[in-house]
Amino acid sequence: MNAELDAIAQKMVADGKGILAADESTSTIKKRFDAIGVESTEDNRRDYREMMFRSDEAMRDYISGVILFDETIRQKAKDGTPLVQLIQNAGSIPGIKVDAGAKPMAGFPGETITEGLDGLAGRLKEYYDLGARFAKWRGVIDIGAGIPTPGAVAANAHALARYAALCQEANIVPIVEPEVLMDGDHGIERCYEVTDYVLKVVFDELYAQRVRLEGIVLKPNMIVPGKKARTQASIEEVAEKTVRVLKSHVPSTVPGIAFLSGGQSDQDATAHLDAMVKLGNLPWKLTYSYGRALQAAPQKAWAGKAENVAAAQAAFTHRARMNSLAALGQWSAEQEAKKAA
Ligand code: 13P
Repeated sequence: MNAELDAIAQKMVADGKGILAADESTSTIKKRFDAIGVESTEDNRRDYREMMFRSDEAMRDYISGVILFDETIRQKAKDGTPLVQLIQNAGSIPGIKVDAGAKPMAGFPGETITEGLDGLAGRLKEYYDLGARFAKWRGVIDIGAGIPTPGAVAANAHALARYAALCQEANIVPIVEPEVLMDGDHGIERCYEVTDYVLKVVFDELYAQRVRLEGIVLKPNMIVPGKKARTQASIEEVAEKTVRVLKSHVPSTVPGIAFLSGGQSDQDATAHLDAMVKLGNLPWKLTYSYGRALQAAPQKAWAGKAENVAAAQAAFTHRARMNSLAALGQWSAEQEAKKAA
């Protein structure tokens, strides 16, 4: 059982491949569709995701796994093929978001606790039967005046570790995602300091809850300044600080680290990953598990129109290929410019 789990984790971070986070909740996908003027109906959500899952080159060569939302893992393509099967046919692995979202935390104004542990063992079994071989849970840590507090970080780390233990028991690889948000005007040093603390607490909890590190994938934020910070950082500084904080806390038994994009522009997310891999001498694989940074371009190209499917697939494939090159440390601005040829 351990060997099976470890093999899935390794496949998720295979050379030149990364994860597509397509697990937007119904309210989040509505926001994305609003931005492109598309009504968020069940059929439109299906058509949009089917467009990506039928992007053959991207799915076969650059996307090791797809994180799905509950609705999507049960949905069928227009021709009746389960969407899960489209993903599997491309040689990619279906995964599932299992947290129930970050909710205001009692006694901790301005902070959240991610819910969803109750009944999780039963849900994991059902998702396994539906084809999921990995899962995702996101703990959210916001930076602001007086936050995060140790109490909220501890509660979120504990929930992440309990979730991870339940996943492994269900033979599902847990993506452990402690996300330090890049909202706000804090500088890069503050992001470093908070992420340093959060990762320390998370790995302590994973140990306490007996999670096998060989059978997880870590999904962290990069070390970046807040979006509204006066001073932005160079690509080299983000890469150097992110690798330094990860080396401080992530044991080399963890097979891979797949970053979230967190609101970075799609090119920044690619350039940062590439710069980290180019630093070399890393004990784990580094790759992407991007939502917005993989989907912004195809969403814009698609705009809800069937006649735009080919253009949207080309945009998705380009972004996936750029990130694949970045995960190999082979990306360059020249590659980027070859675009949309
Ligand atoms: P972003 O890459 O858009 O941050 O999404 C990744 C994700 O899965 C967040 O939970």
